[in-house]
Amino acid sequence: MEKFKNIDLLKITTLFIILVLFATPTFAQFDFMDDDEDEVEYLDEDSCVECHNEEEHDVDFEWQIEESIHEGFGCLECHPYYNTDPHSEDMEFSDGCEGCASCHEEEYEEYKGHGRSVTGECEELPSCADCHGGHTVLPSDDEESLVHPKNLPYTCGVCHEDIDLTEKYQILINHPLEIYETSVHAQAVRDGNEDAPTCNDCHSSSGTAHQIYHPGNIESKINDYNRPIPCGKSHEEQENDH
Ligand code: HEC
Ligand code: HEC
Ligand code: HEC
Ligand code: HEC
Ligand code: HEC
Ligand code: HEC
Repeated sequence: MEKFKNIDLLKITTLFIILVLFATPTFAQFDFMDDDEDEVEYLDEDSCVECHNEEEHDVDFEWQIEESIHEGFGCLECHPYYNTDPHSEDMEFSDGCEGCASCHEEEYEEYKGHGRSVTGECEELPSCADCHGGHTVLPSDDEESLVHPKNLPYTCGVCHEDIDLTEKYQILINHPLEIYETSVHAQAVRDGNEDAPTCNDCHSSSGTAHQIYHPGNIESKINDYNRPIPCGKSHEEQENDH
């Protein structure tokens, strides 16, 4: 009996050694991965401003958010993928539109293209933040909002007065802001007439600036077939102004 026990013990010991030998590389690998993961620290929302403060960016993001319609929001609500230190390398900065989408699903669904291009396929198309601001979003009826009728022409103008951009996309009217500025409409808007047309009143399909298309697009308000609608509207308003 003793003898058998010893043999068992020997077998078990040998088996154990073999197992350990086989397992070593695997263990080593796990060790390595553990080390790597240890280097990534998960960040909580309050830590963002330790690095992203006024000293670093010249503006106080936290204060901007507090002054905006998104008062009280945490940084990760709009930057969900920046939750590690260091930030994930394989993630290019996508300027928070993915964050906007998580709450403003309706607008995100509505905004599928601009001009002749489809969102996601053309980097130069306006992002939510290009029109609304990133940290400074306000409702469109707030006079400080980038999309308030008084400010919208300049917000569109950032791109549409950029001659390199309008040439690249062969946009026929390359200084719409300048033209608009001299119109009775612009004067009326400046005078506080909220019904006077600004860029989106003539260009938005289905009544939203989230659908502004090339004049050749049948859905475009400035398509020849639809032209009487915006022009008719603006002329009526012109008359009203008088
Ligand atoms: C330890 C310092 C540190 C902390 C803490 C930190 N960041 Fe960063 N962050 C950086 C640095 C450095 C960069 C620029 C290099 C890079 O992208 O990794 C950056 C880049 C970014 C960018 C992209 C900026 C751009 O123009 O590409 C965003 C957005 C961002 N961080 C958000 C956050 C959020 C949200 C938090 C909190 C959850 C946070 N960061 C916490 C150091 C930090
Ligand atoms: C309402 C959504 C929203 C919230 C909340 C938000 N961000 Fe942003 N953030 C954006 C958008 C959109 C952009 C890109 C457009 C821009 O530059 O304004 C941006 C840009 C940035 C950038 C890169 C731009 C630069 O100037 O270098 C950093 C860094 C950043 N945010 C950090 C933060 C931190 C830190 C907080 C919390 C205090 C925060 N964000 C809260 C939407 C948001
Ligand atoms: C975590 C959810 C959330 C995220 C992310 C978010 N928003 Fe909002 N947003 C809201 C809520 C809630 C309101 C309404 C606040 C109120 O009416 O008091 C709002 C209001 C607005 C308004 C004004 C709406 C109105 O009816 O007056 C605009 C414009 C807006 N957000 C645009 C954006 C943009 C652009 C982004 C991305 C840069 C963004 N939001 C990211 C939740 C969010
Ligand atoms: C961030 C830059 C940017 C902003 C802001 C912007 N646009 Fe554009 N817009 C473009 C680009 C780029 C194109 C061309 C896209 C294409 O057709 O491939 C375009 C195309 C257009 C077209 C169609 C022109 C054509 O010949 O196809 C109209 C009309 C237009 N924009 C009006 C506006 C109005 C009105 C606003 C403001 C509410 C605005 N855009 C804001 C970049 C911008
Ligand atoms: C080309 C400029 C432009 C782009 C890009 C854009 N918006 Fe808007 N958005 C406007 C204008 C102008 C209004 C107000 C009137 C209207 O709907 O035409 C508006 C209205 C809104 C409103 C309604 C509340 C209000 O302030 O009237 C929300 C919410 C909103 N946008 C969110 C978004 C989100 C989210 C994105 C990105 C998916 C986005 N917008 C992209 C120009 C833009
Ligand atoms: C009163 C209505 C009206 C207003 C306001 C208006 N537009 Fe236009 N816009 C038009 C019409 C109509 C055309 C088409 C002209 C043509 O094809 O001959 C046009 C053409 C354009 C084009 C060129 C499209 C192309 O390729 O033919 C752009 C870009 C544009 N507008 C941007 C703007 C911007 C930006 C604003 C605000 C600063 C603005 N528009 C204000 C009616 C208007």
